[in-house]
Amino acid sequence: MSFLTDAERGIVPARVVRLGRDRAAEILDLDELVWSANPPPEYRRLAAESLDFGRTIGVEAPAREAGGGPVLAAIASSSPFDLPVPGGRAPAAGLSWVGVRPDYRRRGFLRALIAQHFADCRAAGEPLSLLFASEMSIYGRFGYGLAATGVKLRLAHGARLRPLPAARPPVELRFETASWQAHGGTVESIDRQVAHGPAARPGTAMHRLAGARRLELMGDPPPSPRLEPWRILIASRAGRPTGYALVRRDGKWDEAALPVGTATVRQFQALDPASGHALWQELVNLDLVTTVVTPWLAPDDPLAAWLEDWRGARPTLVDREYVRLVDLPAALAARRYGAPIDLRLAVCDRLLADNNGVWRLRADPDGAEVAKTAELAADAVAVADAVADAVADVTLDIRDLGSLYLGGVGAAGLADAGLVVEGRPGAVAELARAFGSVRAPGTPSLF
Ligand SMILES: CC(C)(COP(=O)(O)OP(=O)(O)OC[C@H]1O[C@@H](n2cnc3c(N)ncnc32)[C@H](O)[C@@H]1OP(=O)(O)O)[C@@H](O)C(=O)NCCC(=O)NCCS
Repeated sequence: MSFLTDAERGIVPARVVRLGRDRAAEILDLDELVWSANPPPEYRRLAAESLDFGRTIGVEAPAREAGGGPVLAAIASSSPFDLPVPGGRAPAAGLSWVGVRPDYRRRGFLRALIAQHFADCRAAGEPLSLLFASEMSIYGRFGYGLAATGVKLRLAHGARLRPLPAARPPVELRFETASWQAHGGTVESIDRQVAHGPAARPGTAMHRLAGARRLELMGDPPPSPRLEPWRILIASRAGRPTGYALVRRDGKWDEAALPVGTATVRQFQALDPASGHALWQELVNLDLVTTVVTPWLAPDDPLAAWLEDWRGARPTLVDREYVRLVDLPAALAARRYGAPIDLRLAVCDRLLADNNGVWRLRADPDGAEVAKTAELAADAVAVADAVADAVADVTLDIRDLGSLYLGGVGAAGLADAGLVVEGRPGAVAELARAFGSVRAPGTPSLF
């Protein structure tokens, strides 16, 4: 595997290695060191089970003392997704478990892991990589663009929702203690229908643990003895499960003996509007609960439209999914476009040289053709260089193409920010119309 040396910068020789199941304990020890965690043995067992060892890599640094073994100093793993993208699906790698030992940081180990990850994506025929970032400033330099945002709401008890017509058949609700044995099948089935249905949001990346196994994971012991186990509210219509919410209440009272409980909804899915509406209606009316905290929702989640007082729910907006086009032509050909487009895109990619160049994208709602028409000069690694170097309708960095890819970020906004540069009047508007998605991108759970 690849060797890294950088004596000039004082970087120790290190190598990227593949990590098999036999290294599970070391991987978990490192992960806990990185994330300041102290999980119980049962959680460690499940965490190890969730790792895909064929896709787990690490960086080994030389032994610290004579006779010692190499030190596992960094890890990363990924999960394969059949990712919904606008108008279709594309193979994608969800990068996670990224961590470097605190005493081995800033030596280029993350950079080495990312280089290996990109090579692995290409070998596996996955043109896209996606991730959630612990800190926003880490991944832009590697060509990841923010593609999906999320909103969290804090709903007051009794928050009013716009009414819907009475549902036929009606929605029935059950409130039970969540368990893998009892509810795994239901949760997994609903998740699958959401991820594979015609209304799947671009970017919906359901980890193989997102359904049944996640429930088992949620059996992690409550952080305080007062906290209840996860409960599940299940909606069904005519005997068929149509939605669920995983929720936990903290059972708090204030000094005047008034209930001030918070209910946290970890996961929420609904297959139709009536079921989603009934679930939220029930959640905001739970007894002894003054605040319901939602999971991260897509900006156009139905709850935003139902709430009579959305502002009163104090929306918080954060970055969620980041997208990296690892194989530009394959990625652009995998999605569909909302309007016909014939554009030459000059794309700067300082890490993956074959993405760098001028690409002609010809597409309509039925298909797309992508071909390189010119190389950029080797030193054209920034958009300003490329604008000077190439004749193109639009010039942009691979990072910003990643932001546009799922259709949730507008090309005009990036052009107004000076990040997408128009070479022909009207080209940015064409790009914006073609790349936009009918539904905001987003995914309900971390992977
Ligand atoms: C974030 C983390 C993985 C970086 O690992 P690392 O090996 O120190 O990173 P590298 O030395 O390869 O740095 C690569 C580049 O990223 C930058 N970088 C690294 N960590 C950064 C951070 N937290 N914020 C901003 N930039 C960061 C470095 O400055 C370097 O930039 P340059 O190459 O342009 O000079 C490591 O600090 C870590 O494990 N942090 C805690 C866990 C975590 O946040 N993991 C990420 C999960 S999404």
